[in-house]
Amino acid sequence: MTFRKAQWPRRLRSAEWFGGTSRDHIYHRSWMKNQGLPADLFDGRPVIGICNTWSEMTPCNAHLRDLADRVRHGIFEAGGLPLEFPVFSPGESALRPTAMMYRNLCAMDVEEAIRANPMDGVVLLAGCDKTTPALMMGAASVDLPAIVVSGGPMLNGMFRGERVGSGTHLWKFSEAVKAGEMTQQDFLEAEASMSRSPGSCNTMGTASTMASMAEALGMALSGNAAIPAVDSRRRVMAHLTGRRIVDMVKDDLKPSDILTRTAFENAIRVNGAIGGSTNAVVHLLAIAGRVGIDLTLDDWDRCGRDVPTIVNLLPSGKYLMEEFFHAGGLPVVIRHLCESGLMDRDALTVSGSSVWEEVSEVCNWNEDVILPVEKALTRQGGIAVLRGNLAPSGAVLKPSAATPELLVHRGRAVVFEDIDDYKRKINDDELDIDESCVMVLKNCGPKGYPGMAEVGNMGLPPKVLKKGITDMVRISDARMSGTAYGTVVLHTTPEAAAGGPLAVVQDGDFIELNVPQRYLHLDISDAELAARLASWSPTTPTPANGYASLFHSHVQGADTGADFDFLVGCRGAAVGKDSH
Ligand code: FES
Repeated sequence: MTFRKAQWPRRLRSAEWFGGTSRDHIYHRSWMKNQGLPADLFDGRPVIGICNTWSEMTPCNAHLRDLADRVRHGIFEAGGLPLEFPVFSPGESALRPTAMMYRNLCAMDVEEAIRANPMDGVVLLAGCDKTTPALMMGAASVDLPAIVVSGGPMLNGMFRGERVGSGTHLWKFSEAVKAGEMTQQDFLEAEASMSRSPGSCNTMGTASTMASMAEALGMALSGNAAIPAVDSRRRVMAHLTGRRIVDMVKDDLKPSDILTRTAFENAIRVNGAIGGSTNAVVHLLAIAGRVGIDLTLDDWDRCGRDVPTIVNLLPSGKYLMEEFFHAGGLPVVIRHLCESGLMDRDALTVSGSSVWEEVSEVCNWNEDVILPVEKALTRQGGIAVLRGNLAPSGAVLKPSAATPELLVHRGRAVVFEDIDDYKRKINDDELDIDESCVMVLKNCGPKGYPGMAEVGNMGLPPKVLKKGITDMVRISDARMSGTAYGTVVLHTTPEAAAGGPLAVVQDGDFIELNVPQRYLHLDISDAELAARLASWSPTTPTPANGYASLFHSHVQGADTGADFDFLVGCRGAAVGKDSH
């Protein structure tokens, strides 16, 4: 840890708005006072923004106003002035074409809202998949003291006596209906059991993964990730976070002090240990880009390769976040990784203490949920990064969610030109496909969909499912829900819509996947590949205007985090000119 605390007291950034007797200072204070704020709250104390992604359109975050109130208590108690503000809330379940198209919009909103407003530090209230990375991206680009508090996962779902995990069982039930193993009526009855309480997905999906990433990076207080949304300790966590941000401002402890290369490498290892979502790859690459850390796909493979998956949660294992919390949550995992020499113990966290100081005394209360290494779900739990002529800039696969027998496979390609082509063909019994084939889906990357939708785990054809087969090799430039599973190659880069080799795969080509050797190969000659690429032209439309046009023009590839090119980097917290 190299962090040195700033002197306190000192004049803060918010004093540019509130700390004087000029006409403009009076103007700024006067308007704030219409909310009933006493004069002595403008005495130079830290002004703390509470950045809230609350929205009824984002059901996973619909309880965040209650948590914001708990944060507010903590800020007042510690001598700060809390001011809550809303930002665009990209909700995973409802947004079309995909919430990922709006992660960067949210990040831009967050960045500009923090910089333009009179605040000295910010609490980032997030929950649903994209909200956590978007808030960290935006805050990192401003680099004022910032701390994450998550909304927390939903309680366990139960259906007819069995545990039901968000997302994961949606895919399972849907395939069971197609296979004739479950009735549509039963599926409809299961619907309500999947979302039993306020909160985010209760599996180790992307929301739980990103909450874990925030904690592993050091951007949230220890223990934040797993506390259920409706547990009273979630409110305590929010309260403590409110207290802590005031001291972070006094100490001038900023994201750039915490988000070091070491922190990212620690987080990648934690992702392997928890069996975390492949979506963490694009999000961490994007956050790293905001603070100038040259994190690459190869770092993901290198750091995660020898990390065993020890968290026995769906979709890789069998339990849910509620059980993870009762077993001790992420601090137990971090302690284990530190003791195994897989994490840097000295990395700094928002508490001002090191990672190790936060976890050195925690206990594992359930070794069936957080497994001993000798009982790990898989010895190599990290994300595998594949390369080859089909993915010159990389592709990813999550071995812990894949079928071991399919990790080395050669099969005939069955190609879907886009998601509509897939939907048209997949249920047709005449489709020439069997379980040995490789399903290839094009034009679902950042530019192609647009937004890089979570369709990479495309469902299998019913005629294969009816044989009792539940997995096939699938390849696309899409993402996959963190709650999903299967031998699924994702994020293939360059994407098809940008003219990557994926664009020219044809029905009947043979594809070779070799995960142990990190290899993805289209079995045609170099000359044939070059000829096909030379005659390729885009098939996806280019949006003429609006946000879709901005997105299409500026989004980068998945291999660098799919951020906008003009948003990469930190632009600081300099106070702009006054408007009066
Ligand atoms: Fe919002 Fe899963 S859909 S957390």
